[in-house]
Amino acid sequence: MTGSVEVSSTGKEGEGGELSFLALIRIHEHLNQLFFSHQEALLMFNLRIACDRMLVFEKELRSHMKVEEELLLPIYQRAGRILGGPVEFFTGEHKRMLEFVGRFCEKLRELDRNPLDLKREIIALLDEEATFKHLVMHHDEREQSILYPTLDRVTTDAERHEILPRCFPANSSLRQMGYCG
Ligand SMILES: [Fe+2]
Ligand SMILES: [Fe+2]
Repeated sequence: MTGSVEVSSTGKEGEGGELSFLALIRIHEHLNQLFFSHQEALLMFNLRIACDRMLVFEKELRSHMKVEEELLLPIYQRAGRILGGPVEFFTGEHKRMLEFVGRFCEKLRELDRNPLDLKREIIALLDEEATFKHLVMHHDEREQSILYPTLDRVTTDAERHEILPRCFPANSSLRQMGYCG
């Protein structure tokens, strides 16, 4: 994990006890766990569950992206243009990630309908998912090293108290993390 401010055990505070946008790393970790649970079902050849888990992952991913694009990126633009972190990098990667997920869902439905040569098809799917995981890793690193620290820099503590609770969408999976009040 990189970044200048550590996330506390509550995931909400930085080193000085102040609220930090780095708390959002917890959502990335949660999304990674959801994706792993999908891959576990795939390894057990349970296509129905693998597909259901992919749909949960997609829903959570879209919720997080919506918050970043509609709430956080407009605030991030207060900092002006940042080398290695223009807004289009973040939104472009979001778009690519959703395109991958769309292809995965399509493939899973196809395999469920017609499980011919299933082992090889699953190996091919896991290969494509590995490419997706690299994209997600780079995206998360960019947010951790540029987006979230910059948001900390351009907001007041009072603003962070108002904005951060709105970043943990009130859906069932993220509510279990204890952020949605
Ligand atoms: Fe993002
Ligand atoms: Fe993010």
